[in-house]
This record gives sequence, C-alpha cells and structure tokens, in this order.
Amino acid sequence: MKTTRLVATALLGLTLLGGAAQAEPSAALRGRIAFMRCAACHSLGAGEPHKVGPNLRGVIGGSAAQAAGYNYTPALRQSDLRWDDATLKRWIRDPAALVPGTSMAYSNSLGEADIEALLVFLKSAGH
Ligand code: HEC
Repeated sequence: MKTTRLVATALLGLTLLGGAAQAEPSAALRGRIAFMRCAACHSLGAGEPHKVGPNLRGVIGGSAAQAAGYNYTPALRQSDLRWDDATLKRWIRDPAALVPGTSMAYSNSLGEADIEALLVFLKSAGH
C-alpha cells in the first residue's frame, strides 16, 4: 500500500516537472514553434519546393527576392532589402509596411521574445 502511494507521488512529481518544461521551452524549441506560423506558406529544407511563399533556405542574411524559381512581386524584387535582424523584425511585424505591394499577407501575432527565437531558429535551420 505504502509503495503504491510512493510510486503515485513520484509519478505526480514527474508529471508536474514535465508540465513546467513545456511551459518554458528552450529558445530553439520556441523558435521552431513560432515558425509553424510561417510554415503554412514557407518551406525551409534544402530542395523543398516553394509554397505560396518562397523556400526560405539561405534567404536569411542575403538580399531579398533571390530564391531561384520563385515568382516574387515587383515590389519585393525592387526593394533592395537585405534580410538582417532589423529588416526581418520589421517584415515579420508588418510586411506591407516595410514593402508596400508585397504579396506576403501575414498578420503578426507573435510577441517580441517569439520573434527573437524565430530569428535564431531561421539562422540555424535555414542554412
Ligand atoms: C500567408 C502566407 C505567408 C505566411 C503565413 C508567411 N509568409 Fe513570408 N512570404 C509570403 C509570400 C507570398 C512572400 C513573397 C512576397 C513577395 O514576393 O512580395 C513571402 C516572402 C517572405 C520573405 C522574403 C523572402 C525572400 O526571398 O526575399 C521572408 C524573409 C519571409 N517571407 C518570412 C516569413 C516569416 C518569418 C513568416 C512567419 C513569421 C512568414 N514569412 C509567413 C507568404 C507568407
């Protein structure tokens, strides 16, 4: 009887610990989760086809509108942007404010910490 209660208590403890771990995901995990909002329209893996938006592999850190085989809007092609942290943050917050005429219809609901984690994820997973 006593052993059963001890095991039950231990299991409960583990469950609580597990719950705490889920509430505080690591930055990498947080970024991966945040990318789910982008993944509806963007692939990231090498050789994966473009979706509604271009495959983002190799895009971060480079000039805008360079992915081969993707039909960008003239607005983004002529934007002369470089995808560094500052431009990416502005883009994620409000694409049309940064590039009027872009076809990226995305309405941001990510908080600041999620955007930071997303940028870390994109830089590590997108190369
Ligand atoms: C509803 C679809 C959609 C969603 C969701 C979306 N995007 Fe896009 N994205 C696009 C489209 C379409 C373009 C091409 C825009 C153009 O040509 O004007 C684009 C372009 C981009 C570019 C520029 C790529 C390049 O080659 O210059 C980046 C960077 C980008 N998106 C990042 C993101 C990130 C990060 C998220 C998630 C926070 C996201 N997008 C969510 C559709 C989407």
